[in-house]
Amino acid sequence: MQVLLKTRKARIHPDIESALYSAGQIAARTNALARRINKDYEGRDLVIVGVLKGSFMFLGDLLRRLTVPVEVDFLSLSSYIGERSTEMVRLNFDVRLDLKDRDVLLIDDIVDTGFSLAFARKHILSKEPQDVEVCVLLDKPERRKVLVPVRYTGFVVPDRFVVGYGLDYNERYRELPYIGILKSRRLEP
Ligand code: IMP
Ligand code: MG
Repeated sequence: MQVLLKTRKARIHPDIESALYSAGQIAARTNALARRINKDYEGRDLVIVGVLKGSFMFLGDLLRRLTVPVEVDFLSLSSYIGERSTEMVRLNFDVRLDLKDRDVLLIDDIVDTGFSLAFARKHILSKEPQDVEVCVLLDKPERRKVLVPVRYTGFVVPDRFVVGYGLDYNERYRELPYIGILKSRRLEP
């Protein structure tokens, strides 16, 4: 089963134009980020807050590499319809942990226009944490409209629509173990 699964997923999905980062490259980069986080949060009071759904895979892989004590919570935002980013960000559900005076590390899949993370960061700040930092797997700087201070970045990507490793297009392709550029004919006009 293990071997079968590996072989099937190792082939590039037919809707993917090209793979940008392989599972191995993502793992190596996640290791490096975790090393920095372990060092930076030594002796602190870390709460990781994942932005659902896109961050779930990255968050899981990052988390299992952390050696500092950590609590985990999630919030859910929606801002995206298909591949279009909107300035309208909505909070679907909120964190349950009390973040007052905690050191919060906000984790998302990608920072694109910046609207979602700017909203999430402001929302977290309203809970009076001690500190809020942001960690993203991917950064698409060409599309930025709102500045968001990002402390930890996995990879800087070109202005193309990418999927896999948690990132979706209309809820699909999250299961791909690599990050790839979606073929443009797959994107709705
Ligand atoms: P932003 O508000 O424009 O920064 O984008 C926020 C959200 O849009 C991200 O958390 C993703 O869920 C989604 N998003 C932006 N760019 C992409 C992409 O290239 N692929 C998949 N999702 C994306
Ligand atoms: Mg998304």
